[in-house]
Amino acid sequence: MNREDEDRLSVSPGGGKDKERGNGNGAAPRRPWPWRRLSPPSRRGRERVLITGGAGFIGSHLAEELLKRGNEVLIIDDLSTGSLDNLAHLRGDPNLRCVIDAVENESVLAELVDRCDTIFHLAAVVGVKLIMEAPIRTIASNIRGTEAVLHQASKKGRRVVLASTSEVYGKSARVPFREDEAMVIGPSAIRRWGYACSKAAGEFLALAYFHEHGLPVTVLRFFNTTGPRQTGVYGMLVPRFVRAALRGEPLEIYGDGLQTRCFSFVGDVIGAVIEVAAARHTIGEVYNVGSDEEITVAELAERVVALCDSSSPIVHVPYGEVYSQGFEDMRRRVPDLSKIRQAIGYKPEYDLDLILSAVAAYESNRMRARERLAPDAAAQPV
Ligand SMILES: NC(=O)c1ccc[n+]([C@@H]2O[C@H](COP(=O)([O-])OP(=O)(O)OC[C@H]3O[C@@H](n4cnc5c(N)ncnc54)[C@H](O)[C@@H]3O)[C@@H](O)[C@H]2O)c1
Repeated sequence: MNREDEDRLSVSPGGGKDKERGNGNGAAPRRPWPWRRLSPPSRRGRERVLITGGAGFIGSHLAEELLKRGNEVLIIDDLSTGSLDNLAHLRGDPNLRCVIDAVENESVLAELVDRCDTIFHLAAVVGVKLIMEAPIRTIASNIRGTEAVLHQASKKGRRVVLASTSEVYGKSARVPFREDEAMVIGPSAIRRWGYACSKAAGEFLALAYFHEHGLPVTVLRFFNTTGPRQTGVYGMLVPRFVRAALRGEPLEIYGDGLQTRCFSFVGDVIGAVIEVAAARHTIGEVYNVGSDEEITVAELAERVVALCDSSSPIVHVPYGEVYSQGFEDMRRRVPDLSKIRQAIGYKPEYDLDLILSAVAAYESNRMRARERLAPDAAAQPV
């Protein structure tokens, strides 16, 4: 990719519609996170990182913090679920370049990998709703994209941090989940497990590159990460519940609501991502990242309604009505965090109350801004 091509492909983020989102951090109290520059520094004296999926929810927060730490950030994102709006507040930063393309496009990817020191591979088809609606795209894109990233990284000997998911534990009843335990994936006739398998295949491939070619890679299994900028459109629970509560609409619980989840704040998670990337002893390892504060989905709905001082009803919808067929849920999803605690001293700072406050503050600011700009449009679902 020559300079002219790069200019053509690169965008100055900020042309989007949602500039009113501000810096996207909500209003909850926030302590500074103990981030440091990635090391070792490159010859130019600063680290150049590539974030695949950098216009997404987690990727945009990661980009923001890496820029704050003085790094150069390259992004590749096809904007399938992400948005340049997530990067709008970074507009004009000379250390940010964003290429709109799919990671499967290996010629573009190769140029970007060539220019970076570390790769954070976050690009993936994500969200239960999408996975149920587009299973072929989910499986094919996740596997091909990860293969392309690992192949290019291996050719250039780049450091890689790979985003995986708690979904790979599948239906395991051995809670809390430890990294060295079996994955208990459901049958292939149940579409939902296609996502877990695509991410598990990425893990196997990453560790194969580590063992066969010495690729310095670390796998991180994220557990329900949430915070400002996460969209509820693809089924993510916290933004979906908070938006419904703020609008006085019903909070829809799929199933009996007794399934449990643990929610972690995006700032805590990306702090761990950066620490892991900076450490050598994490190479070739798999870590859970998240929170172990367990809550049922029904309790979560009640907490959100109370926090938002909302009169929204809480209703139950059978899985069959939401996903038609081919769906099974995980009953409990709790990480064992001892491995990552030991590796990097991981200690999340945000508990669930702080997380919900941050998301509620962000969403209500966003709704107010939409109302000011277009009162009629604000009444439409987002
Ligand atoms: N948010 C969570 O709770 C959670 C939990 C477990 C795992 N993860 C993992 O974290 C990563 C980031 O997730 P997120 O929550 O920020 O979701 P997101 O949808 O906001 O981010 C994914 C980004 O990747 C981009 N993308 C998708 N396919 C692409 C492709 N082929 N080429 C280029 N860009 C592509 C999307 O446009 C989007 O910007 C994913 O790998 C996901 O599997 C997230």
